[in-house]
Amino acid sequence: MGHKAFSALGLVTSLGVFVVTLQTVCGDVAFSLPEEMKRGTVVGNIANDIGLDAGKLAARKARIDADGNGKRYCDISPSTGDLIVTNRIDREALCGKKASCVLKEELVLENPLELHRISIHVQDINDNAPQFSEDLISFEIRESAIKGARFSVTEAHDADIGANAVQRYNLQNNDHFTINVATEAGGRKHSDLVLMKELDREQEQELKLVLTAVDGGSPQKSGTATIHVTVLDANDNAPVFSRAVYKANIPENSQLDTIVVTVSATDADAGPNGDITYNFDHVAQDYVSLFSLDPKTGAIRVIGSIDYETDNSFELRIRAKDVPGLTSYCTVIIDVTDVNDNPPAISLKSLFNPIPENVSPGSQVGIINVQDRDSGTNRQVHCSIQQNVPFKLVPSIKNYYSLVTTGQLDRELVSEYNITITATDEGSPPLSSSKTVHLSVADINDNPPVFEEQSYSAYVSENNKPGSTLCSVTARDPDWRQNGTVIYSLLPGEVNGAPVSSYLSVNGDTGVIHAVRSFDYEQLRSFKVQVMARDNGSPPLSSNVTVSVFISDVNDNSPQILYPAPEGNSFMTELVPKAAHGGSLVSKVIAVDLVPKAAHGGSLVSKVIAVDADSGQNAWLSYHIVKSSDPGLFTIGVHSGEIRTQRDISESDSMKQNLIVAVKDNGQPSLSATCSMYLLISDNLAEVPELKDVSYEEKNSKLTSYLIIALVSVSTFFLTFIIIILGVRFCRRRKPRMLFDGAVAIPGAYLPPNYADVDGAGTLRSAYNYDAYLTTGSRTSDFKFVTSYNDNTLPAEQTLRKSATDFTDVFGDFLNQNRFNLKVGRHREI
Ligand SMILES: *[C@@H]1O[C@H](CO)[C@@H](O)[C@H](O)[C@H]1NC(C)=O
Ligand SMILES: *[C@@H]1O[C@H](CO)[C@@H](O)[C@H](O)[C@H]1NC(C)=O
Ligand SMILES: *[C@@H]1O[C@H](CO)[C@@H](O)[C@H](O)[C@H]1NC(C)=O
Repeated sequence: MGHKAFSALGLVTSLGVFVVTLQTVCGDVAFSLPEEMKRGTVVGNIANDIGLDAGKLAARKARIDADGNGKRYCDISPSTGDLIVTNRIDREALCGKKASCVLKEELVLENPLELHRISIHVQDINDNAPQFSEDLISFEIRESAIKGARFSVTEAHDADIGANAVQRYNLQNNDHFTINVATEAGGRKHSDLVLMKELDREQEQELKLVLTAVDGGSPQKSGTATIHVTVLDANDNAPVFSRAVYKANIPENSQLDTIVVTVSATDADAGPNGDITYNFDHVAQDYVSLFSLDPKTGAIRVIGSIDYETDNSFELRIRAKDVPGLTSYCTVIIDVTDVNDNPPAISLKSLFNPIPENVSPGSQVGIINVQDRDSGTNRQVHCSIQQNVPFKLVPSIKNYYSLVTTGQLDRELVSEYNITITATDEGSPPLSSSKTVHLSVADINDNPPVFEEQSYSAYVSENNKPGSTLCSVTARDPDWRQNGTVIYSLLPGEVNGAPVSSYLSVNGDTGVIHAVRSFDYEQLRSFKVQVMARDNGSPPLSSNVTVSVFISDVNDNSPQILYPAPEGNSFMTELVPKAAHGGSLVSKVIAVDLVPKAAHGGSLVSKVIAVDADSGQNAWLSYHIVKSSDPGLFTIGVHSGEIRTQRDISESDSMKQNLIVAVKDNGQPSLSATCSMYLLISDNLAEVPELKDVSYEEKNSKLTSYLIIALVSVSTFFLTFIIIILGVRFCRRRKPRMLFDGAVAIPGAYLPPNYADVDGAGTLRSAYNYDAYLTTGSRTSDFKFVTSYNDNTLPAEQTLRKSATDFTDVFGDFLNQNRFNLKVGRHREI
């Protein structure tokens, strides 16, 4: 069919050509023929074309020669005159890319030789497909290539021409590229790969696209090649951190090299473009010394000591950078958690030191502040002080505590306190600290001096030397320094009407008490003084103590014989004081005793009365008959002094009896006195012969001279005394009072001065044992105390008024008691 169509077409064409050929060129025949016709294909009937009878062809030896030295592709069929294809006619081989391809053949006829030129136009058929020189077309395109970029693609080659050549290219569907075909001036078609959408290496590292070249033949033929696009990296990606903010928590004091957190950034780029290094970005120098950042791994490590109290949170800015320099940032927030690493700190804000011991309980003495630098429960602090001190801590505002006294302070018991304040926090484990506060207690003069004894007694013998030490008093004052310095002094007062200072002195510093004068027991047996101990405080405190001074007797007084009257006095004299009122009998001195003739043995004849100003043993008198005109007739009671007949008196006994009686005291050494007794044995005084004889009978006797001296002195004394008494009485104009009655009456005035009150109290100041010794053993006592000794026997009241009242205070009780005893004793004996 195809061939026939072609032949028909060729026929028509050759007819036209033939007409022209006939007219112009003698014998030229033209044929048209597609290439690649099979051998034997009839191109045309040449005989007809040249008007020659086919039968003659053979005769005329018709043959086809190639024009020139060309190859013969056709031959003539001698029988039919048809031009027949004898060789393969490949247009591409014959003419290549020439647009017209004509085979020139010659028909040679002999007899006559005729030459006909035959032109065979070889027509192209689409027998070649487009072809790429390489199957794989490689491109390396940087991902940064911009849209519209062109990359020329090797063109496909098609041996065919015209429409059978490459007409267009098709590119496999894709996102990035299209193919753009441009026709060059020479009609060549040129194709470019055009970037329609930017590449991203990070999405696709390469693309493979099939490029198809299509020709215009029918049937159409195509050829393909693969375009391989390798996307080259561009540093188009900054590093990207996995998080914008990293948060981490570390405890303070974390060990060195502890990894806190690791930041990590990725860079989509490849190679150096994706090589990331980490750095701190503008981080404070302080932080840099605490944390390190590994530039490669992004690990943040502790390299310093993390102190919550300094910084409890860190914010680090970290930069990630790739090699070309794209950067990004992240923030690392490191929160530090508190660890109980700070013990509470105790500070003393104020302290009243020393505190006076008299502060009232509850007084604030100090303010304490406690701080704990930790936080949370680690900073909750409890404060306490030890138990055994009179202080407590009172919580005040916030972290302040008041140190307050809880009780009364006493410097004399505890003079200083070491108060240990302990503060403990609530951390786990808890930390604590302590502080010792030293508090001194200041003295207040709150203790008076106290004497070691309730009262002091000093015993001193009379006739002491002035200035001798009697005793010493000691008072203690536990206060401090001058508040405890004791000064002793005598409280003013009077003893016997004289200021105490004339009796005693006290050493203000030592408390030693000295006698200022020599004491006389017979005048003053005891006295009391008040000694004050005063401290030097301001105001001073003092206390008083009574010091009783007891003067002890020394046998310095010899017995004094009251009756009989000492020698030298007139006998039978009645002394009637001139001042006596009403003429009462005051005293009667009987120097001569009458002894009844009928006296039986044992009868009381007389009595020697003696006193001794001393006391006790020193006044314990004993009576002895030293000499007697008739020994054996009289005896004397050793203690009573009573002279009794020892036997019945006979007529032969001398009427005048003379006795010398010695009175001794019991002192060591003992003192004595003697007296003479003249006794008349008679029933009637009228019978008595010359008394003078009696009195002076013994003048020449062997009575010792001391007796005379004693009598003289006693009488002198007596007289003096009488005069004084009388004088005083006269002044008082008081009625004299009888002291004695009975057998032997002795006027009160006979009592020695001591017995009357020396210090003006009007009583027997020291009655002590005196009476007892005086009358022991007396059967019919001659003494009768008519009235109480309360009444003054001596009219001394007016002149010595003051003393009388003063000393009743001191001795009142004592005296009252003694008076009572005296009275009772007396009356019983009588
Ligand atoms: C208080 O402490 C001081 C100093 O440590 C010490 O000398 C003193 O004896 C202490 N006092 C008391 C009462 O413990
Ligand atoms: C003595 O006590 C007074 C208060 O009574 C006081 O002011 C003074 O400081 C004390 N003296 C000494 C040395 O402590
Ligand atoms: C001590 O005696 C004096 C004088 O009589 C007196 O003022 C003082 O108060 C007395 N002191 C005491 C502690 O009794």
